[in-house]
Order: sequence, then structure tokens, then C-alpha cells
Amino acid sequence: MSTAIDLLKLHLAQQAARGVTHVALTRGAQAQLRGGRSAPAVRPQAPATPPAVPTPAPPTPVRRTEYFAQPAAPTPAQPPVSRPMPERISLSSPSPLAPAPQSRAEHLARLALEAENSEKARSLGTLRDIMVFATGTPDAEIVFVGEAPGAEEEKLREPFVGPAGQLLTKIIQAMGLRRNEVYITNICKFRPKIDDGRFQNSKNRAPTIGEMLSCQQFVLAELEIIKPKVIVALGSTAATGLGIEGTVGKLRGKFHDFRGTPIMVTYHPSYLLRREQEDGGGIAEKRLVWEDMMKVMEQVGLPISDKQRAYFSKARG
Ligand code: URA
Repeated sequence: MSTAIDLLKLHLAQQAARGVTHVALTRGAQAQLRGGRSAPAVRPQAPATPPAVPTPAPPTPVRRTEYFAQPAAPTPAQPPVSRPMPERISLSSPSPLAPAPQSRAEHLARLALEAENSEKARSLGTLRDIMVFATGTPDAEIVFVGEAPGAEEEKLREPFVGPAGQLLTKIIQAMGLRRNEVYITNICKFRPKIDDGRFQNSKNRAPTIGEMLSCQQFVLAELEIIKPKVIVALGSTAATGLGIEGTVGKLRGKFHDFRGTPIMVTYHPSYLLRREQEDGGGIAEKRLVWEDMMKVMEQVGLPISDKQRAYFSKARG
């Protein structure tokens, strides 16, 4: 037979599943839930008093592209304060009642918070302070993995928003997708320091192996949560960070295996931009990237139009 406390627990679990994060409870009910002995026990036969549940505020619309880019700042620990009744018990606090994360978005938001507070990465002293997590949809079929945020990314706390990011956006659009229909992340979540950060200005550098390793757990978890159909490693640094060794020239053009998920290694957009400045404008490399992306499209079942197939065909002649 259900006791009042069982009913209350069920009610709380239902509220948590609906997204309610706080409910008002009497001190006695709280003590029962925590298994404490200070408050009088709730009598098993007493009718359960339905806890007053505040009507959940309508969800604030969030642009997906910003959702992971700006995780909430960690709440500083508060000293205990005595509050008037009824107290509020947080359904997201670590307790036997804390609901398991309900969605990929929630998993990723928690992960972003862990990355923000990563002692492993921060204690290296070679990475800058601002953490840039990821952008896009948690339901993506394609995940793009880059190196590390640069100056622009650090400013906006979103990966791939500088010149290389604008080129990546064009590539994604050429595939018939929008940025918020894929997931974009980096192998290192912090911008690497140059000259102890004193003369950094807008200079960027690729992360070292140690810097990548300090963030590896986050990237692995992101891929585990999202379970994309295809991963695209942008450049050899990202490939190395995912355990795939070799030059892009040797690796590109075919799928490799990343823990059961096909992964395509292709040229980093920054490399394409550098080649633009040289003879030929880097058309040959752009064409190779486009060939790689058409393979990615085929792999996830995206249609490829004649027009898309013909991109760069003039450059072949
Ligand atoms: N290059 C990367 O590899 N990642 C970014 O976020 C921006 C540029």
C-alpha cells in the first residue's frame, strides 16, 4: 500500500519530469524525504497534502545556436540561511529524488557546466579563462569538430564565428543545412594562450596534445550523448584529438571509424582561407572539401542535387 511519503515522492518525480525545479514543502515533509529524524514523522494513513506547486513559468525561447555557447555561470556556494516556512526543496539538487537528466540538451548543459569548472584544463595555466563549449542542435546527425576557440569565438562564446567559422557556415549551407541543424564543437574548449597571454591580441594557436587531453572527456561525452550519424574532423589537430593520426591529405576522402561512428577528416576552413591568399585561391582544396562533404551527405541520407554535384566542376577543367 502506498504511504503518504510514497505519494509525495511520486508527485515530485512527476513534477520534475514536467520540468518543475522547485516545490514548496512543509518542514515535516522535507525531513521525511531526507530521512531525517528532527521533524515529526508523517503518519502513514494521513492523507497526503498535495504540495503547493508554483505554476511553471513558460519556457523562455532560446536560440539553439546560443544555448550551449553560453552556459549559465556556476552558482557560488551560499552559506546556510534560515528561511520562513514553507521552504523550497530543489528537485535538481543531488538527492535520491534528483531526476536523471531528461534530454540530450540537459546532459549537454550539465557537461558545459563541468567544462566551465574543469580543474584539469584550468590548472594547466596555458589556456585562457573563457570556456567556449559548442553550438547547434543536440539532435544533430552531423557533428563538426574543430581545434579550439579563437579571438572571435572567445568574444561571442560560440565556436566558429570568426572568418574560418563564416567559411564553415557557407560549407554547411552548401550542404542544404543551417548551423542550427548540425552540432559544432572543438576538441579544446579554451583558447590557447600565446606568450603567457600578455601579447596575445588576436593571435591564435592550435592546442597542444596536453591541452586537448585536458578537454577530451568533454568531447567524448558530447559524441556519446549526441550519437551522430557522422563526425567531421576539421583538420589534423581535431583528428589527432580523436585518435586518428595522419595528414589530412592522407586521411581525407574516406570514412574512418570513431568508436563505431564514421568520421571524415577534411581540411580546416582556416587552411582553406590561407590557401585563398596563395596562387590559385585554394580552389583545389575547396573542391576536395566539397567532395568530402558530399560523401558526408550521402552517409546521412541527404539528397544531393545536380547543382550541388556541379559545384566546382568548372574548376576541374
Ligand atoms: N577554429 C577552430 O578550430 N575552432 C573554432 O571555434 C574557431 C576556429
